Amino acid sequence: AASDPDLVARARAAKEALGSRLFVLGHHYQRDEVIQFADVTGDSFKLARDAAARPDAEYIVFCGVHFMAESADILTGPDQKVILPDLAAGCSMADMARIAQVEDAWDAMVEAGIADSVVPVTYMNSSADIKAFCGRNGGAVCTSSNAQVALEWAFAQKPDAKVLFLPDQHLGRNTAVLQMGYSLDDCVVWDPHKQNGGLTAEELRDAKMILWRGHCSVHGRFSAEVVDELRAKIPDVQVLVHPECKHEVVTKADLVGSTEFIIKTIEAAPAGSSWAIGTELNLVQRLADAHPDKNIVFLDRTVCYCSTMNRIDLPHLVWALENLVAGTVVNQIQVDPETEKWALVALQRMLDLPA
Ligand code: 13P
Ligand code: SF4
Repeated sequence: AASDPDLVARARAAKEALGSRLFVLGHHYQRDEVIQFADVTGDSFKLARDAAARPDAEYIVFCGVHFMAESADILTGPDQKVILPDLAAGCSMADMARIAQVEDAWDAMVEAGIADSVVPVTYMNSSADIKAFCGRNGGAVCTSSNAQVALEWAFAQKPDAKVLFLPDQHLGRNTAVLQMGYSLDDCVVWDPHKQNGGLTAEELRDAKMILWRGHCSVHGRFSAEVVDELRAKIPDVQVLVHPECKHEVVTKADLVGSTEFIIKTIEAAPAGSSWAIGTELNLVQRLADAHPDKNIVFLDRTVCYCSTMNRIDLPHLVWALENLVAGTVVNQIQVDPETEKWALVALQRMLDLPA
């Protein structure tokens, strides 16, 4: 749908008034009406780097979700203010790992005598206190663009290392099994709602990957049946999915990668090629619009936007920007100094990984 012209004009005017004091970041899953005002767009890894690369900007307006704004706050200077236009833009996956639950799990691993060999790795899609937990316990952050390199780093940290992977079981399993040659039997799932994660001490001792029982409610909807259905319907279709999809979906796909990878793949694809894409719908629609010479379909029978990403809309963006013009900082995301210190350790370990 076309954006309200009055709001577009107001957003433009506010951006102009703020000039280089303002830097607007937009995740690829944002609405078109918002993405048109982003100074840079990217997946969560690229945006974390982009935020850190603008020490001159006084205000960083983050059009994405809460954990991304927290990471931007951690990676930017003390005088820079990070703003999330709607505080209700959270992430259901990040909410699946609470710090108290993770600390309980760690205690159980100490009790089982394995904690010394466990390296915690958390997906970017987690709260700052989970990142800090990883920093404090010799671990790191990863994103969907560098999960394999991060896991290789983690396994090299200790002899007989195991990885506790938070909070997305699918990214952890898909990376370990499909990219690194581990078997499904090397992976166990820690369920925070069960006594001892639902695992015996022996299962914990035998595991290489301890996967937290979390998932993305958007990518978790894609199914292997729809992959089969589309293959039957569209000859030569190539199935391209995000690694947050279930293992059985990723196994059936032709290509798997982060949102940045998905975009590059479609940009490089020849005219006339057919693609079924399993990631958030705003991005798939934008790719279909930008590449009318390619046949791009969504890998689901129904619509599935990320409802929290969609909370950032043009009215919220205009509200945040006009407040800044008036000298009022609204919806600032500020991580407390102790959490920030340790989360930065984990984030820096990620940023230091070989590209
Ligand atoms: P990336 O941005 O790392 O591809 O992750 C996708 C996602 O779900 C972001 O919330
Ligand atoms: Fe969270 Fe999934 Fe939405 Fe990304 S797409 S913000 S992982 S719920």
